[in-house]
Amino acid sequence: MSTVIKRIPEPFRIKMVEPIKITTQEEREQALSKAGLNPFLLNSEDIYIDLLTDSGTGAMSANQWAAMMQGDEAYAGSRSFVKLQASVQTLFNYQYVIPVHQGRGAEQILFPTMVKHKAAKTPVFISNYHFDTTAAHVELSGAKAINALTPAAADSGTWHDFKGNFDLDKVSAIIEQYGAENIVGIIITITCNSAGGQPVSLSNIHAVTKIAKTHGISVVIDAARFAENAWFIKQREAVYKDTAIGDIIREMFNCADSFTMSAKKDPMVNMGGLCCFKEDFALYQATQTLCVPMEGFVTYGGLSGRDMEALNVGLWESADEDHLAYRIGQVQYLGERLLAAGIPIQYPTGGHAVFVDAGKMLPHISAEQFPALALANALYLEGGIRSVEIGSLLLGRDPETGLQKTADWEWLRLTIPRRVYTNDHMDYVADSLIAVLARAAELKGLAFEYEPPVLRHFTAQFRDL
Ligand code: F0G
Repeated sequence: MSTVIKRIPEPFRIKMVEPIKITTQEEREQALSKAGLNPFLLNSEDIYIDLLTDSGTGAMSANQWAAMMQGDEAYAGSRSFVKLQASVQTLFNYQYVIPVHQGRGAEQILFPTMVKHKAAKTPVFISNYHFDTTAAHVELSGAKAINALTPAAADSGTWHDFKGNFDLDKVSAIIEQYGAENIVGIIITITCNSAGGQPVSLSNIHAVTKIAKTHGISVVIDAARFAENAWFIKQREAVYKDTAIGDIIREMFNCADSFTMSAKKDPMVNMGGLCCFKEDFALYQATQTLCVPMEGFVTYGGLSGRDMEALNVGLWESADEDHLAYRIGQVQYLGERLLAAGIPIQYPTGGHAVFVDAGKMLPHISAEQFPALALANALYLEGGIRSVEIGSLLLGRDPETGLQKTADWEWLRLTIPRRVYTNDHMDYVADSLIAVLARAAELKGLAFEYEPPVLRHFTAQFRDL
């Protein structure tokens, strides 16, 4: 089929290159076998294109590298922190800023503080969808993590503008069931990673916030991909089509009371995060108390001065419209090439990744035999491309019964680092997966050789069935 798919050219030129190794089929077979058929255990040396994650893997700009030389490494009150704080105040209109070492650093200091403040009997957080570490930190703080995602997200083949939206009826039902006094917070994950990097509309953000306000519930934004979410709003929510991205960002954040941010995604730093408060000084102060022992003094939170400089520049670059058009265009381009070849994906594509529906692509492999892992391994053997399973393997076993849980979806995530790979690389990825499609019926499921008791997907070993 000769569908012409639009490519948006890169709004940058390349100043420095990093060689990557092109391996032979035989080398890849050896490397994967040594890794126990688990792509997490591969050495990156043996990978040609690494689509494991968009987290910390972006390419910094000349301006970010230059800013690093300005780092002020003072233990307390550094100039780099003051600059970063001023940028957060302007970009998001949030008063209080705590730097942290990454997203989960913010989660580990904020959630327990919120739980303590609420003093609920049965503490609960509601989210469109808690990311894994987010759910883990909610649970570590003694609360329950409940998702309320729109059912539209489950229908992978059908276009829906905002598959990251909350199911508002479900939110109300959860509040009713547990009682507003037990709902510690509503976490708005933008974009919604687990559903495929899918955006949340501003009207949905306003609606869920209204529900929260009515019940006196605090609203937190999980802001890892905030700029990509703003871009989708501008493209798809008619009333915002002429609104500047910066204004959309401020409107989104104005709805919430606090945010946690893994700055390793949109702001394109290799390490860093933020935990910020719009105006709640008491919660800010209480969170600071946990920051000192967990992350570091409150004006560095685990980051060096130079890291904060790079983050300060990256925050602004992430919201640049030319960057966003190219960035999201590249993900869309890969998705459309796969779709044109008949590969089922979460459609439309989201901001940071193409989510391939491995359950649909390999219907002969059951959830307990991990179809998305089988596909990830086949793609690695085909083209040296590393991708990641987001399905039943990641989900794990029911802690009470010990039985394998069945995930809602068996995704293979092709996660695109920012400003790292060219559109030619995307063609190579598409061609490789299309070659795998041709022999999809021959692929086999996997069984454990070694299954660790917790977070098993990182270190498990497998054999082919
Ligand atoms: N929230 C979301 C929505 C995320 O996607 C992640 C990380 C985090 C929080 C935690 O941030 O890694 O800096 O501690 N997601 C990465 C991924 C790991 O591959 O999707 P972190």
